[in-house]
Amino acid sequence: MDFIKKDINGESFNPFRLIGKDWFLLTSGNMNEYNTMTASWGQMGILWNKPVFTTVVRTSRKTFELMEKNEFFTASFFDEDYRSALNFCGSHSGRDCDKAKETGLVPVELEGTVAFEQAKAVMVCRKLYEKDMAEDDFLDKSLLKFYEKDPFHKTFIGEIVGYYTK
Ligand SMILES: Cc1cc2nc3c(=O)[nH]c(=O)nc-3n(C[C@H](O)[C@H](O)[C@H](O)COP(=O)(O)O)c2cc1C
Repeated sequence: MDFIKKDINGESFNPFRLIGKDWFLLTSGNMNEYNTMTASWGQMGILWNKPVFTTVVRTSRKTFELMEKNEFFTASFFDEDYRSALNFCGSHSGRDCDKAKETGLVPVELEGTVAFEQAKAVMVCRKLYEKDMAEDDFLDKSLLKFYEKDPFHKTFIGEIVGYYTK
């Protein structure tokens, strides 16, 4: 089924459920070179008078390399049927396997970047701002527990330039 571009202002969804419970695939690159990973932390809202999507990516991820290299990224949202595919993409690195081949997810080009055919909704985002998290910037130092073993996240804020559903 083809994706249809919608005006995001006319849509209604619960971002807490969509991001935190349903999860999404964060994808960056083009059809020649892309990577995707599962994410469940993020934000959506308004900044600089634009609709924005914010994602945080640890610098150790393969997806991080693609996020650094490319101007666009996508957030693809799925029905519950794809939970096992999302679990796979969140526990394997694109350095070691072809996630699309392993899960059956089919990459599709949207606005020059990559999303997945099976997604129920996709946000295409253009990077506006990026910032490495740093220890000194944490006001609540208890949050540093998230970084005892793993590297800090980098924050990427993207303008939602396309919102697609079916
Ligand atoms: C439910 C879930 C949520 C996740 N959320 C994030 C996230 O928001 N940011 C992040 O950097 N990694 C997150 N991860 C971890 C990455 O998806 C995981 O490390 C993945 O294997 C990275 O793949 P890559 O090396 O191909 O980029 C999450 C994993 C799961 C299972």
